[in-house]
Amino acid sequence: MNAMTSHLPKSVRVVEVGPRDGLQNEKALITTEQKIRFIQMLAEAGLPVVEATSFVSPRAIPQLSDAAAVMADIVRLPSTQYPVLVPNLKGMERALAAGVRSIAVFTAASESFTQHNIHATIEESLTNFRPVVALARQEGIAVRGYISTVFGCPYEGHVDPQRVLSVALSLLEMGVDELSLGDTIGVATPNQVGEVLDLLFTQGAVPVERLAVHFHDTRGTALANVLVALQMGISIVDSAAGGLGGCPYAPGAAGNLATEDLLYMLHGMGIHTGVDLEKVVAATRFIAPLLGHAPTSKYYQAATAAC
Ligand code: COA
Ligand code: ZN
Repeated sequence: MNAMTSHLPKSVRVVEVGPRDGLQNEKALITTEQKIRFIQMLAEAGLPVVEATSFVSPRAIPQLSDAAAVMADIVRLPSTQYPVLVPNLKGMERALAAGVRSIAVFTAASESFTQHNIHATIEESLTNFRPVVALARQEGIAVRGYISTVFGCPYEGHVDPQRVLSVALSLLEMGVDELSLGDTIGVATPNQVGEVLDLLFTQGAVPVERLAVHFHDTRGTALANVLVALQMGISIVDSAAGGLGGCPYAPGAAGNLATEDLLYMLHGMGIHTGVDLEKVVAATRFIAPLLGHAPTSKYYQAATAAC
């Protein structure tokens, strides 16, 4: 143990978002059976959370319009949670009918992004979520709250960390269990991560175990940002197999931080995840040819070049 490692968590919960955050942005048609296989391979790799799909408007995200069929047929492992995105009560009703036991609601820290993404102001989005979260709690369903554009907005640029704090507190106050802080367009640098987390801890008194980080690797800073978050006590990190993803409402957003790259770093640092890295590579190898473009994961590329 030295000064660099003394504050690091012993284990990290990796939240796999590839089947949702990744696939929602892919142009190629992926069949329901292929999505199910991908989700199952990720769960079998030991990922404790595999975000499976979205019960949003099919017009908004056509790629995930088969959400009910996906949830009906995945063979669930008891060791994995399969949350889905829910934007409103209509989505919640569809999710409940599909037997969902874990959901995520989503808003942002900037007004223009929220308007483009869900046709609402931030305040309206929070108002829409209140009955959704109340229903989830009544049903004993876990709720995650995503905050997008925490470190920058494709339409507004700079985002005031005070806005992040205020949205975070509203979500926690309505009963959200866990918050995921999203760098939707991949602009964050480590000092910004430190600044936002510090604000949430000190001014917001947000418990560290209720915070997750969600970085996109558009400018190559995702792993550096994760490292700072770990050093500040964060132990929940989102990533997508192969580095899939982007955001249909965030022009220029590249993929999520790749699960393989995250696992390689965590395992190399002696941090436990319970995930089999090579099995994640296998899941990426399964989905990659169906997408029509190469995965951006550095570890995947190295593993594939070597064999
Ligand atoms: N599931 C299925 N259909 C839904 C739905 C849901 N959760 N929510 C709304 N709809 C349908 C409505 O029934 C309506 O259909 P109709 O025109 O056939 O009557 C239509 O969608 C429009 O509904 P409305 O309530 O007016 O919503 P809107 O057009 O203002 O859209 C959202 C709001 C939130 C539903 C939509 O923008 C959305 O689903 N966005 C998701 C974006 C996303 O997933 N982004 C990536 C994640 S960061
Ligand atoms: Zn994302």
